[in-house]
Order: sequence, then structure tokens, then C-alpha cells
Amino acid sequence: MRIAFVGKGGSGKTTLTSLFGEYLISQNHRVILIDGDINQHLLSKVSIPQKSAQTLGNNLHPLKNHLKGNNKKISNVQEFIKTTPPGLGSNLLHFDSDILNQYDFSDHQNVRFFKAGENTAQDLGVRCYHSKTGSIEILLNHLIDLDNEYILVDMTAGADSFASGLFTKFDLIIIVAAPNLGSIDVYQQHRDHLKNHNLPFFVVANQIEDQSDHNYLQNLIEQEHYLTSFYKSSALKLKERGEKITVNQLENENLTSLQALKESINPIERDWTRIRNHSHHFHTQNSLKWANSELGTQLENQIDETFLYPGEK
Ligand SMILES: Nc1ncnc2c1ncn2[C@@H]1O[C@H](COP(=O)(O)OP(=O)(O)O)[C@@H](O)[C@H]1O
Ligand SMILES: [Mg+2]
Repeated sequence: MRIAFVGKGGSGKTTLTSLFGEYLISQNHRVILIDGDINQHLLSKVSIPQKSAQTLGNNLHPLKNHLKGNNKKISNVQEFIKTTPPGLGSNLLHFDSDILNQYDFSDHQNVRFFKAGENTAQDLGVRCYHSKTGSIEILLNHLIDLDNEYILVDMTAGADSFASGLFTKFDLIIIVAAPNLGSIDVYQQHRDHLKNHNLPFFVVANQIEDQSDHNYLQNLIEQEHYLTSFYKSSALKLKERGEKITVNQLENENLTSLQALKESINPIERDWTRIRNHSHHFHTQNSLKWANSELGTQLENQIDETFLYPGEK
């Protein structure tokens, strides 16, 4: 299952991604955590053994080269752009794929941890952060993840998450909303965008302190979208100060919310065909808008209509 956490900066995306990740890890699930945010805080919040590795965004060449494999529709690796879809001859990825080891900051056997990467001096003013989050698009376009593997992506703040096709590669999008106007504003924008694209999403309330916080959000979030609430946590506050607090030491009400989150995901089924169609759509758009003129070729021809993901019936 692939889940993205989006919402206003400060609403709690990184916190909930890390808590839900730790919760699933504590239940022995295989988890892939991806830090897609420009201010990369996720790794410091997750209590797992860690090792040094390379970010995806700053060293994409080996990955692209591997994924290209014998795909004849990609003439050379320079023509492998962020939206290039897999086709006949492409190498696909699995949780255990060796090529991913060099990008993996986790030293826990059930956990993979990837980072989109920070902007380097050479990127500043030239590329926006999407050139780095493009590495997550490439990963998710080629990753054959299983139902009992959880991929959690901590996305960039605000509407930036929707500036590329990345948001169409998930089974569920969680909009994190704190009880304030800014969060509601971002919720409303995301809701309209997600509805337009027919994508599944829920809202999770966070940083709830009292009944008035609850009422505020309940009044402004459509009932059918509201999933559960996380309360302001003193255990979390101690954890943030460096105390060793495991996820199971959280307040009962927050543990119940983690359980509710997991239960809401269980019935969801992957729609590979939807993901493939969206990826073809965004690849065509990117080809026509900038990539063809930059590379002097017709990249929409990379789309291999005969290719189906292994999970497609
Ligand atoms: N449920 C909560 N209880 C206590 N503190 C929280 C809770 N959720 C978030 N925080 C705190 O709020 C701040 C912002 O959260 P963060 O996850 O970094 O937001 P975002 O990633 O959306 O910008 C952090 O200091 C975090 O520890
Ligand atoms: Mg964050």
C-alpha cells in the first residue's frame, strides 16, 4: 500500500508519517519510508538503526541505468526523464532489489528509508524541488510493492505536492489538518484537486487539544472524508526532546487513531491500471511541454502500450 501524507507546513505530516511508520514496524510489517520534503526531518524522527546512503535525487543515474534495462523505447539514459514509464525490457523494483541498497538509510531488515534529496547549490535558481521529488516518481513508477508492504511518503508542504504527477501514484492520500484556518485552506485546495482526479483521500485531524478543536474541524471537513483524530501528545513532546519513547508508549487515544488509520487502509485495493494510465498522461504532458524540445526527440514514444504491471488482471 502506498500512502502519501500531505497538508500545510506544521500540521504534522512528518510526525504522523514517522508515528505510523513506527507503528507498522512494531507489528513486523515491511515498510518503505520516503522523505519527499525539502526540509528533511523524517529520518531524525524515526527510531530505527540507520546507516549512511545517497539520496535518490542527487544520484539518479545508476538507478535510471538499471531501470532502463533492455527497454528499446529508451534510446539512452539521458532520455530517461522523471515520467518515463516502464515498458518491455525494463527492470522493475521490489522491496529487496539490490540496486536500492545504495539509497537506503535504514539498517533495519524490514525497513527501507529513501530521501528525495536536498537542493544543491547548482540547483538553486535553476531547478525547483520537483527535480528531486521526480526521483520518487521514478521509484514508484517501477516499484512492484505488495499489499502487505507499506510505503509512506512525507510530502512537501502545501499545494506543491500537486505540481507533478507524483500524487497519482498512491493508493491513498492522507491530508493532515491541524485546527487552524491555514490547514483548512490547504485541505480545501487538496480536496478539490483530488476529487478532480478521482483519487482516494482522507483527512486526519492532528494536534487536537480540546472539544473546540474537534468541533472546529468537524464543522469544516466533510464527514465522508474525516478519518480520525490525533491529540496533542506529551509523549511525543518528550520524544522530540530525545527521550527514548516507543510508539506503543503513546497515549491510548493516539494508539487508537493509528489503529484506525491502518484499518482504513486494509480494504483498499491497488488499481495498477489507474496508476499506469495516469503515468502515461503525465509522461505525454511532460514530453510535449518541455522534454521534447530540450532533448530534441519525441519522448511520448517511450510509452509502451503493450506493457502491463504484473498486478494488472
Ligand atoms: N499530535 C502531536 N502532538 C504533539 N506535537 C505534535 C503533534 N503533531 C505534531 N506535533 C509537533 O508539531 C510540530 C510540527 O510537526 P511536523 O510533523 O514537523 O509538521 P509538518 O511535517 O507538517 O511540517 C513538530 O514540532 C511536532 O513535534
Ligand atoms: Mg515536515
